[in-house]
Amino acid sequence: MFRLDGKVALITGLGQTSEDGWGIGAAIAMNLAQQGASIFGGNRTLAAAERTKARIEAEGGICHVQQADVTDCASVEALVNACLERHGRIDILINNVGKSEPGCPATMGEDIWDQQIDLNLKSVYLTTHFVLPIMEKQETGGAVVNVSSIAGLRYIGKPQVAYSATKAAIMQFTKATAVIYADRRVRLNTIVPGLIYTPYTRELAKRYAPGGEEAGYMKMRDDQVPMKRMGDAWDVANAALFLAADESRYITGQELVVDGGITSSTGRV
Ligand SMILES: NC(=O)c1ccc[n+]([C@@H]2O[C@H](COP(=O)([O-])OP(=O)(O)OC[C@H]3O[C@@H](n4cnc5c(N)ncnc54)[C@H](OP(=O)(O)O)[C@@H]3O)[C@@H](O)[C@H]2O)c1
Repeated sequence: MFRLDGKVALITGLGQTSEDGWGIGAAIAMNLAQQGASIFGGNRTLAAAERTKARIEAEGGICHVQQADVTDCASVEALVNACLERHGRIDILINNVGKSEPGCPATMGEDIWDQQIDLNLKSVYLTTHFVLPIMEKQETGGAVVNVSSIAGLRYIGKPQVAYSATKAAIMQFTKATAVIYADRRVRLNTIVPGLIYTPYTRELAKRYAPGGEEAGYMKMRDDQVPMKRMGDAWDVANAALFLAADESRYITGQELVVDGGITSSTGRV
């Protein structure tokens, strides 16, 4: 089940900031590589991408990486072309890059608003702009998996309007494009992670926790989840693997929520 032998997966934001723990993009890359896919990754910081590459290669997987800025059209085009030159095809595209900046419309500067739109949403347009024409020419088509957030479905307790708006937009971008490509052998779906423990979550603690107190911030996140714990990057990576694999061949335009029950709950127990 879920084998990806012979498939090529292009993944954005697969960098790993430390040897400790797993970011979502890095875990997806490892998971897909373990199932036989060749990974081609683009990341803002090359050293972080090379850390993920080394981890994958240490397990016998195939991974190539290059520096890429997903907000820059020329950089995305170069990434897609490099993947195509190396492997001659792209079967799977994972749009993982994303980041939240705090603020409501009154407090958020226009520069931050624009950066959030570019990083979280325009990036998805740019990669699909270059990859969809490649996938539709392939006899076996392709699968696109976009990474959203439950902040695109609900208010999750902190003001981050640009993040919420972009993550909601990703879901509708995916649905509309999925319908357009449904008869062209290309599937597009969205994964919607809830509260996930990653190295980035530790950065959030510095920003949002009173006094930057990490343990209290993590306990608060655990307590918000009906399952009483945050998810980890592997919970998200397993969902990505399913939507990337041929076993989900009749699923397109859908959201797979990976949240331990948060969005099914009113918050009262
Ligand atoms: N963590 C959560 O609780 C959570 C919950 C819901 C949804 N998500 C979503 O899941 C995704 C991954 O989150 P994560 O927590 O794993 O974050 P992460 O560890 O910060 O990973 C994001 C990666 O994106 C890269 N990146 C940032 N800007 C880029 C750019 N302009 N071009 C190319 N690469 C860039 C980063 O590179 P550097 O190495 O240079 O920093 C990093 O490797 C995001 O879309 C996020 O919104 C996360």
